Amino acid sequence: MAPDHRSPPRRRRGGLPPLAAAAVAALAAAAATASPTAAKLLQVQVIHRHGARTPLYKDAAVSLAGYESGATLLADGVEQLHTLGQLVRKVYLEDESKLVVGEVVGGPALANATAAYKVPSDFRAVSSSLDRTLASSRAFIYGLFPDDQQRVPTYMFHDDPDDYLLRAHALCPAHTDRVRSWYESVAFKEKEAATVELRSTWATKLGQADDLNNWFNVYDQVFLHHYRQWPNDKLPSPIPAADYKAIEDLAYWLEDNKYGADNLGHLVGGALLGELLERARAMANPPVASDSAGGSTNAAQDQDRPRMHRLIEYSAHYPTLLGLLTALGIPLSTVQPDGALPHFGSALFLELHSAPDGRPALAARWYPGQDTEPRAGLAADARLRNVNGSVLCGDGVTTGGLCPLDKVTARTESRRYASAKAWCEACDNTVESPVCFAARAGVASAADLADRTAASDGGSPRGGGGGLARGAVAALAFVGGIVE
Ligand SMILES: *[C@@H]1O[C@H](CO)[C@@H](O)[C@H](O)[C@H]1NC(C)=O
Ligand SMILES: *[C@@H]1O[C@H](CO)[C@@H](O)[C@H](O)[C@H]1NC(C)=O
Repeated sequence: MAPDHRSPPRRRRGGLPPLAAAAVAALAAAAATASPTAAKLLQVQVIHRHGARTPLYKDAAVSLAGYESGATLLADGVEQLHTLGQLVRKVYLEDESKLVVGEVVGGPALANATAAYKVPSDFRAVSSSLDRTLASSRAFIYGLFPDDQQRVPTYMFHDDPDDYLLRAHALCPAHTDRVRSWYESVAFKEKEAATVELRSTWATKLGQADDLNNWFNVYDQVFLHHYRQWPNDKLPSPIPAADYKAIEDLAYWLEDNKYGADNLGHLVGGALLGELLERARAMANPPVASDSAGGSTNAAQDQDRPRMHRLIEYSAHYPTLLGLLTALGIPLSTVQPDGALPHFGSALFLELHSAPDGRPALAARWYPGQDTEPRAGLAADARLRNVNGSVLCGDGVTTGGLCPLDKVTARTESRRYASAKAWCEACDNTVESPVCFAARAGVASAADLADRTAASDGGSPRGGGGGLARGAVAALAFVGGIVE
């Protein structure tokens, strides 16, 4: 593909800042000398949790759309996501390998990426529709492109009742049923019996229900108090260390199980995984541009290659990350050795490389987000860690943890969804979401229709599904309705 580096037709700002100019020059030099057989990084997709927010009150059983309180991002939360945006800039746009723990094949810089947002295909930001994720995306973009933050939009996926990409945890009855039956299991009952005293002590202080399935709500308030992000005068300061650890471990155990493999957590992350792999595939095998001689507008370019972006941000929630890890077959303990839930501002990175043999390959990295000491979330030495390639790939892993894209696709076949319709059916969501209602009725919802029309190459939009049937139009599979 030929990148389009022409500036959009808007007012120029008098050149790049020195750092950006240096980075561009360095990248140009690297591109000029790169051997054709070296691995190249083609695309990075970043899926992160929002930053620290005010306390959240979830439905005790499983959160359902509309049942959460309106939590708002805090100043620490803005800073966490700003830090993450800066880190992504340093590693992937400015090539700072020292910020990556573990082997890096061919340097971490994105091939042909520029340090400024030039064309829509440079970067795409997608968020769930809530205040805390939208504000997190804004902070991330400010760290990523400090000089042109006003120009980069964050797209919202469907409205909350239809957001099966980033908030599927609130929309999937099949998953909810599964979790509710797990609450009746022997393992759950044993955990209940073993934690009666802890739960009753701390829930009572907060005036909360002490049920084990409500424990996230207790933990959340204790956590925010402990890190002085939202102090609560009903709680002691400091919280005794042994109690704090027990409170935390219980929440980790509960949430990890809710979105883990045994409780079909892939239903929560499987539509997002379908989207991620489809976008990687589109980037790896770009359609031949019909207008490579130039002359197209940026808008036309984006329509020709609607799924191709070098860098994509998904601003999401911890259940999104847990469900995605489950869909990928990566146990939480692989990325969080202490079993901790994805902290505020943590992120999973899915990198698409052109491997030395020319085949597209994936690698995953993890950013642990909110550090624990001395102050939550403001770690000075934030670094990306490689995710164990064997876990992603089984025995097919090669140098630097690279795993052929085809292999990841094959390994996750039964745990991902390529259309709204497929996901709605797997989740037994028939009427909860308008998009699923539409799919069931055999018509496309307005948002899916609009999306598909924009991405189609002239054929009439297909009805009957609220999403493309898997494989029907491979290049456009799972055009899941990003509201533009
Ligand atoms: C980078 O740009 C060069 C020159 O335009 C082009 O030949 C090459 O294919 C590009 N590489 C990628 C990965 O986009
Ligand atoms: C990666 O995972 C594999 C399979 O679980 C394991 O055998 C190996 O020791 C792990 N490597 C590292 C560096 O943790």
